[in-house]
Amino acid sequence: MKDIYILAIESSCDETAASVVVNGREMLSNVISSQVPLHTIYGGVVPEIASRKHIEKIDYVVNEALKTAGKELKDMDAVAVTYGPGLVGALLVGVGYAKALAFGAGLPLIPVHHIEGHISANFICHNTLEPPFMCLVVSGGHTHLVEVKDYGEYKILGRTQDDAAGEAFDKVARAIGLGYPGGPKIDKAAKEGNPDAYLFPRAKISDSPYDFSFSGLKSAVLNFLNKEEMTGHTVNVPDVAASFQKAVVDVLVSHTVEAAKEHGFKKIALAGGVASNSALREGMRLACEKEGFELFYPTPILCTDNAAMIGSAAFYEFRKGIRAGLDLNAVPNLPLGSAFPG
Ligand code: KG4
Ligand code: ZN
Repeated sequence: MKDIYILAIESSCDETAASVVVNGREMLSNVISSQVPLHTIYGGVVPEIASRKHIEKIDYVVNEALKTAGKELKDMDAVAVTYGPGLVGALLVGVGYAKALAFGAGLPLIPVHHIEGHISANFICHNTLEPPFMCLVVSGGHTHLVEVKDYGEYKILGRTQDDAAGEAFDKVARAIGLGYPGGPKIDKAAKEGNPDAYLFPRAKISDSPYDFSFSGLKSAVLNFLNKEEMTGHTVNVPDVAASFQKAVVDVLVSHTVEAAKEHGFKKIALAGGVASNSALREGMRLACEKEGFELFYPTPILCTDNAAMIGSAAFYEFRKGIRAGLDLNAVPNLPLGSAFPG
């Protein structure tokens, strides 16, 4: 069978990224221009700045991805792009650029769901991993427990009812003075702290057992910090970071393992920025070992936003004959599992 080369583009949030992926599994390049330092001073992503930076960087990033792969546009079989969910202005930059590129080169255009991309990062890192498996997608914008029935076939078993896991990390990090982005900073600080120093709440939603809620936990940490400040106590930042992190990880692990058991899955995968959290990986590893489940997660650079994951997801769509027209638009709230055009 002929090898399929896909040039993939991702611009849904604050990373401008492009990658060349072969047959959905082999990454020839993975170029990421991160805007994190630009947004740090505002304590979070500023949508308009993100769009403007994507416009400035996208041409360079795409050319660099081809150059690093040792390929030219004429060697590609398709151009793939994230068309949702995400920030509309940011998505439009990638979508507009990909449409022009595909049209100019006479290549098919493959529309990719951002979360489907996160899940597919596992296919690049684990060559033998095949569906079905249970996937916990935990990022700055999403917390989904997903049944991956087949390539491109998903069923959402649980989702957050308020904040996403990464969002909770970012908000608590800001409150304890660690800054943005909070996830990696809490992860690092927690290594010096005692995870049992404080007992923060673990939310259970009775009628939707696999749903998540992190806003109560976030409020509990904020209330605790206020109380300590008012009573003149100095807060031990590593202890708060470790105790908060443990509360998040406990819920993520227990929901995922329970869902896998109930639905008869033996393989669990993690995806999204929070999947690089060391406590989550360790907690999930121990739980999977106990249950006899196999655990998969991408390398940290493929957990956070990148285009290689988009190229992997696009390959399986390409095989199914899914193509976008030049009327492809950005869909900021695109649901997972909806058939294209979403
Ligand atoms: O997947 P991603 O790059 O963007 C979205 O699609 O949202 O995820 C970014 C999120 C941020 O909230 C960041 O704080 C979190 O992932 N994150 C982490 C870690 N590394 C990144 N959270 C916890 N521990 C980490 N090590
Ligand atoms: Zn993402």
